[in-house]
Amino acid sequence: MNLLDHSRRVIMENQLSSGAYLACPTMPDYQFSWFRDGAYIAYAMALDSRAGDAPHQGIMDAQLNSAQRFHDWCVSVILKREDAIERTIIRAAQGGPVVLADTLNARYTPDGSTGPDSWPEFQLDGPGTWLWSLVEFVKIARLTPLPSEWARAVSLAARYLAALWQTPCYDYWEEHGNAVHISTLSAIFAGLTAVQTLMPALDFSATCDEICKFVLEQGLTPGGELAKSIGMDMVDANLISVATPHRLFAPDDPVMQRTIARIERELHAPDSGIHRYVNDVYYGGGAWVLLALWLAWYYQEIGETARATSLITWAEAQADNAGHLPEQIPLPMLAPYHYQPWVQQRGPIARPLLWSHAKYIIVKRSQ
Ligand code: BGC
Repeated sequence: MNLLDHSRRVIMENQLSSGAYLACPTMPDYQFSWFRDGAYIAYAMALDSRAGDAPHQGIMDAQLNSAQRFHDWCVSVILKREDAIERTIIRAAQGGPVVLADTLNARYTPDGSTGPDSWPEFQLDGPGTWLWSLVEFVKIARLTPLPSEWARAVSLAARYLAALWQTPCYDYWEEHGNAVHISTLSAIFAGLTAVQTLMPALDFSATCDEICKFVLEQGLTPGGELAKSIGMDMVDANLISVATPHRLFAPDDPVMQRTIARIERELHAPDSGIHRYVNDVYYGGGAWVLLALWLAWYYQEIGETARATSLITWAEAQADNAGHLPEQIPLPMLAPYHYQPWVQQRGPIARPLLWSHAKYIIVKRSQ
């Protein structure tokens, strides 16, 4: 089984005609399309479509097209809500409260309508990472001129994020909605920085500087690591993204090095993958495949190839007989007694998770 080939196939087969990627086809709660997951999936497809040595010549155009169709889908989702988003931007400028009905959801049904109401939808990292991914796509595909609808949606999403960046929201893991999260800020930073290179008339440099200053002044733990959220003395493995790929800090910046060292100490399960954070209880708080691959991506960037390889080897071993990668592995678990209740509520751990397969393609293509 060639896991790279299989990963491509899983992604292509679970992209719907609308362009939306399902997060996971087998788990009812994940049969939606997220900005966050989709941004990385589209990035993987675009990156892979340009890999020169590829033995998959026949599908390279289809892969680029797949990424483009996902971006088209996001553009349509955003433009459908143009008036609501403009209202939110105006309200924020006037110092008014956020009205949830006028914000973007984290996930949508494949036809672009809203998901069930009970989901923690208000998450700002997804649109930020999406903007970053779209700009990467434009560079890889040499897409010029930018389609006018894309320009409208990009400008709208960027102004929305610039208006709301300090507002508490749910994090990457769709938890802790009353806090401001460093990984979310870095996704917003990455999105705004990317948009500026694409549309220089939009100037977000002041906001990006403020985000950076804010993180340095309020986003560190007493030990000088990046904090999971403002005011917490805790790291989260999603902080890898602050450098890779969001570049709020360079991968070799001492702040990143301290953060990664603490992630290694507290969240790297022995001979296994990476936990999300120390008191995670979701499915018992197992070891995440996509986080192991994310850390591998980081190590590749700083030239620590042996560490990267051992994480990739572990991740590869988690594929089942069909080649499907899961979200997480329930071994070891941080809170085993929480495993069964989640299985009862949502079914088995999500598998195949498209985001895990995307991360696999990304690390294989960033070597
Ligand atoms: C994760 C999210 C992810 C979603 C779909 C959730 O469990 O916390 O980060 O977007 O699953 O994959």
